[in-house]
This record gives sequence, structure tokens and C-alpha cells, in this order.
Amino acid sequence: MTLKETVSLLLTPGKGLLAMDESIATCNRRFAVLNIPQTVEYRRKYRELIVTTPCLENSISGAILADETITQSTPDGEFFTEILYQKGIIPGIKVDQGAIDMIGFPDEKITEGLDGINERLEDYYEKGARFAKWRAVITIGQNLPTKTCIASNAFILSRYAAACQKAGIVPIVEPEVLMDGNHSMQKCEQITIETLHTLFDKLYEHNVDFSNLILKPNMVLPGLNAPIQDSLEAVAEATINCLLQTVPATVPGISFLSGGQSPDLASQRLNLMHIKSGNKIPWKLTFSFSRAIQQPALEAWNGMDENLKTAQDLLVYYAAQNSRAVCGKY
Ligand code: 13P
Repeated sequence: MTLKETVSLLLTPGKGLLAMDESIATCNRRFAVLNIPQTVEYRRKYRELIVTTPCLENSISGAILADETITQSTPDGEFFTEILYQKGIIPGIKVDQGAIDMIGFPDEKITEGLDGINERLEDYYEKGARFAKWRAVITIGQNLPTKTCIASNAFILSRYAAACQKAGIVPIVEPEVLMDGNHSMQKCEQITIETLHTLFDKLYEHNVDFSNLILKPNMVLPGLNAPIQDSLEAVAEATINCLLQTVPATVPGISFLSGGQSPDLASQRLNLMHIKSGNKIPWKLTFSFSRAIQQPALEAWNGMDENLKTAQDLLVYYAAQNSRAVCGKY
């Protein structure tokens, strides 16, 4: 499969991506809240629940797996990657190794994982991954983010993206401006614009082919604790304006992260972006949600086999809601 073919399958109209690549620590944190045992076997069972969900493929074109998950299988020995391929869902892989404190820059993060990346990508390709993801984290706060944090993360994202394309793997580049805090939507817009300008500048410097990558940005949102929570229309408009100013038209697709929005809000905002922009935007606009699709299913499952069907029904329901949103029919 060429990079172009992968891009085109991932961006199948009416479909989006499912992020199921939570690190062991993040997955355990979400399990702990629900008193689900935080073991390899429970994480495997949960991921098995997801990949075996009937009809998931009607709304999902690609699933991003974690390092632990890409080699996991059902009790009958069927690899999760094989199950996904049979459904026509392309397996992807989270390649970054997490965001750590950025030394010298209090309260900012830098993402690790470039060491040995070429060999790791080759290995992931053999295991079936045809696209990858790398998440950088940008924090809004007093005098934050710094230009150094934005530029360093953009540099690393660019090295990662170049390595992926060389390995035959489509890079998803994810510079997430966090929604934590009480900042205004305008502040988020300003920082997201700066982040994306810097990112595309660096991607260009590193000879990354824009036509064979997917951007995974945050929506432009007020901080979670901001006194003014802007309307759906305002968010949709600010997000589209921000992307039109910063993302080259040769980029084939943009798939949003949900970032802690409720499933309903994330879908409504995505839906409105489609209604408002119609065919005025040059890229495909879709979703690559984790929490906004998975959270209700995880809560319903609660670690118990008897809840499997209810959980799978919820997963399909929320995936389908977003499938409707990318058609402006939510
Ligand atoms: P959320 O949709 O929960 O933000 O997760 C998306 C993701 O892949 C984070 O890296």
C-alpha cells in the first residue's frame, strides 16, 4: 500500500479514526476511576472489546493502537491487527513515548521517542501498521507557551514525520494545545495559529511531503474553566478560520482530537464546521477521537464480561454520531 493509498483509505468520506492508543499509564488511570483492575489482561480484554465491535467499520477507517496492543490477540490467537484488516480498518500505531517535563521550561512538556525510531517504524510496518501518530503538548498559562517549547516540539514532530514517510507509514502530526485553564477562546486561537504556523514551517524545512500526512489538531476552544464558554457557532468559525490561515491546501486531511470535550459537544462542533464551511475548505475534515467515542463504552463495560454487548453498542453509537457529523447530519 502506498502512502497515497493509505491516506485515501483513512480519509474515506463519512468515516474517521478511532484513537485507542492510550499509554499503559493513561489506560490504567482511566481504569482506576472505574475500579477496573489495571492489568495487561484487562487492557487486552478492553481492546478486544473495541476491535471486535460489529459494524465499527461503518464509521471508522483507521484505529490507532498502542505499542502494547499491536502484538495482542484474542484468546484464539487472532491478532487485533488481523481483525481490523478483515473489517477494512487500517491499523495505526502511537510512536511517541510520551510527553515529559521540558527541562529549563517550567510547566511545559516535550515529547520523547525519536531514539531508534527508524528501526521501530520498520518493526511496526511488519506488524501491520500503515500510519502512525505523535502527540506534542502545548500548555496555555501565564507567559506560556514559550516560543522554544512550540519550536522544539515542531522540530521533533518534523523528524518523526520524515522518518514515517521514509518507512512507508503515513504520519499523523498532533500538536495539541491543551484546553486546561481559564483562558479565552481568542487566546487558544492565537496560540493554535502560532503552533500550526511553526509546525508547517518546520515540516517544510525537513522536506516532509505535505500531501502524505494528516494533521491532528485541537479545536479552537475556551479553557475548561473559562468564565465565558463560547457558542457552538463561535467555536466552529474560529476553528475553521484558524485552520484556513495555517494549514496548506496540499494537506489532504485534518482529523481532530477531542481533548476532553464531552462526546456530544465534540460531535456538535464538528458537525457545525461542516455545515458552515461546506465545500469551501481544501482538506477533508474528520475526527480522531479517543474519549469522545470510547468513554461511555468504557464506563458501561466496567471490566465485566456481561456488559460487553452494551459497551459495544455504545461504541458504535458514538462512532456513528461522528460519522454523521462529518456529513453535517448530526
Ligand atoms: P482524545 O480524543 O481523548 O483527546 O484523544 C485523542 C488522542 O489521540 C490523544 O493523543
